Formats: sequence, structure tokens, C-alpha cells
Amino acid sequence: MTEPAHLAAVRASYDTVAADYLRLVVPPERLDPVSRAMLAAFAELVRESGGGEVADLGCGPGRVTAYLARLGLSAFGVDVSGEMVALARRSYPQLRFLQGAMGDLGVPDGTLGGLLAWYSVHHTPADQLPALFAEFHRVLAPGGHLLLGGHAGDVRLDHTQAYGHSVSYASYLVPVARLVELLEGAGFTVTARVEQPRPQGGGRSYVCLLAESRTR
Ligand SMILES: C[S@@+](CC[C@H](N)C(=O)[O-])C[C@H]1O[C@@H](n2cnc3c(N)ncnc32)[C@H](O)[C@@H]1O
Repeated sequence: MTEPAHLAAVRASYDTVAADYLRLVVPPERLDPVSRAMLAAFAELVRESGGGEVADLGCGPGRVTAYLARLGLSAFGVDVSGEMVALARRSYPQLRFLQGAMGDLGVPDGTLGGLLAWYSVHHTPADQLPALFAEFHRVLAPGGHLLLGGHAGDVRLDHTQAYGHSVSYASYLVPVARLVELLEGAGFTVTARVEQPRPQGGGRSYVCLLAESRTR
């Protein structure tokens, strides 16, 4: 299958920036307390609903995957960037990291206990989110949990510089209410919604949405 243009751009750009992303971006231990609380709540909900494997989608260098593992989850990472996956494997040889697209996970239906998409869904064009969230619903067991954390807004950002490199990829920010609507439409019940306005962000915000997969 031909790789969609937006995904090829994301892959090439994150391949370029991988080492400096790792150097410049704060690790999960140093995230703000609200974000860490949401990751902890997600981990507790997955454990309480029977555990099962948890995929960290768009795992980058694997630090959040390892953080979930330390919170008691059986976590593995998936990322389209081969360089990111290589970094993750080097840093956490005890964990499993796969190179692939979160929209085509190649995992049997209903087999995962949880899904995390941490600052990764915004690289998918808005018109492709229904198909992406349908894939999330397909792979999650009924009652499984999804935590989606990232940017929200109503703007397309075309990046030409990132983490000290020339790049060419886009972020497609979607309003929180639309994300909720799309998740509900894909078979999820949104159970928590936390929005943190971004200082001088021009209407942009950080959002964490917890959602539970309804029975098919
Ligand atoms: C901003 S980074 C976040 C990395 C990691 N979640 C973290 O918080 O450190 C976004 C990552 O998502 C990956 N990504 C974006 N869209 C993807 C897709 N459709 N499938 C797989 N990986 C994707 C990128 O390659 C990149 O590594």
C-alpha cells in the first residue's frame, strides 16, 4: 500500500529530528502535574479493567512507553519513524517497539487493554480522524481505555523548522469538542476531559481525553 503523503512527511521529519527531540523535549517525569495525573489515572483504569497489552501510538523515543511500564502496564510502542524506534529500542531494550502507522496497527480485533496517543494524533489530517479512531476502537477490547493527550485548536500549522532542523510536515489542530464528537462517533464514551489553555497560545490548548471503548 502507498504511504499517504502526510505520513511520509511525518516519518522523514521525525527521522531527521529524533536525536534532538530526545535531547530537547522534557521527559514524562518532568511533565506538569495534571498531565502526569492523567497518565496515572489511565494506568490505574487499565489495570483495574484487567490489564492487557497497551500500545503507545506515536511513541517517539519511547520514554512515555517506559513510564507506562513503570506504572505497571504491559506497554509497547509504535512509531512511523524508524529513527525514533531505533532510539527507543536502544534506550529500553526490555520493551517492544514496532515501526508502523497508528492507523493500520495489524493487531487482531479487540485484543488490547489500552491505547495511549500522546502528542501524536495532531499529525493526522482532520478528515482522516474518523478512520483513525475507528482503528483505535477496532483493536481495543470492550471496556478498554484510550488516553489521548495533545494539542487542540482550529488551525493547520506547516512546520519548516523543528528541534533545530529544517523539516516539512504539518500539525492539524482540531477543537476539543470535535475530538470528543469523533471519539463518541467511533464507539467510545469520553469519561474525562481536561483542557489547559496555553499561555499566549492564540486559542490553542493542551487537552487530555480519557475514553472507554463501548461494546461493538
Ligand atoms: C511529538 S512526537 C511525540 C512522541 C511521544 N509520544 C512523546 O510524547 O515523547 C510525535 C510522534 O508521533 C509519530 N507519529 C505521528 N503520526 C503517526 C502515525 N500516523 N503513525 C505512527 N506514528 C506517528 C511521529 O513519528 C513522532 O515520533
